Amino acid sequence: MLNINDLAKMKMNKEKIAMLTAYDYPSAKHVEAAGADVILVGDSLGMVVLGYSSTTQVTVDDMIHHAKSVRRGATNTIVVVDMPFMSYHASLEQSIMNATKIFQQTDAQALKIEGASEEIITLTERLTDGGIPVVGHLGLTPQTVNVLGGYKVQGKDEAASKKLLEDANRLAAAGAVALVLECIPQELGKLVTEEIDIPTIGIGAGADCDGQVLVYHDLLQYGVSHLPKFVKTYANFNLYGTQALENYVQDVKGNNFPLEEHSYRIQKKDLLPKG
Ligand code: KIV
Repeated sequence: MLNINDLAKMKMNKEKIAMLTAYDYPSAKHVEAAGADVILVGDSLGMVVLGYSSTTQVTVDDMIHHAKSVRRGATNTIVVVDMPFMSYHASLEQSIMNATKIFQQTDAQALKIEGASEEIITLTERLTDGGIPVVGHLGLTPQTVNVLGGYKVQGKDEAASKKLLEDANRLAAAGAVALVLECIPQELGKLVTEEIDIPTIGIGAGADCDGQVLVYHDLLQYGVSHLPKFVKTYANFNLYGTQALENYVQDVKGNNFPLEEHSYRIQKKDLLPKG
């Protein structure tokens, strides 16, 4: 299995990093079998698995519950787990306690944290120092969608792109092992990737990032309807999965399931209880 620090070697060797989200045992098995380098147990699980309207309802216990099943499904892949909404903002002590709980209980290789405020830089240093690798997340940070005013492209003007570049440098200096860049112009993704030593993993940040990440349910069109521009779909489970389910319902109603090959037989009829 790769080590979280191998991602830096991949950047140096210009080997692209493939990251995918997973949220449970079967999706983790699929992603590991596909050969992804990293699994992200994203708090996007709130939207694509639990049906919430944003990630802000997801709790520490939700993350632990899902990440544990991912770990059971993917024993040979790096697993990164999101720290959910407000679990790292109350105080440094509380943030460290939440991080420790998630890290210990899920057997993850790293935790992902959104933003780069002074508090988050300090938290990144403290967790790294204590032995918990941190993956940063800049650009569109979904936990603050209500402050950002919606799911919009970030870093579009000079001031915003300068700030993002500075934040990326500060996170790298604080010890972050990788940085997710979400929904920013391709040019800015390239600039950050060239500027910092740690690997960048893009989602809507262009082709120049050191790696890419997509959400499992988006890529497979599995239960999702609206898809952002940056998603490439590789299957249509909504269509073909639903067709398969409809076929089952029709088979049951039309007496076409179960058939002989799905049924068990008793060897001697006289062994049956008398009715
Ligand atoms: O929660 C998530 O799935 C994420 C990715 C979109 C990077 O943070």
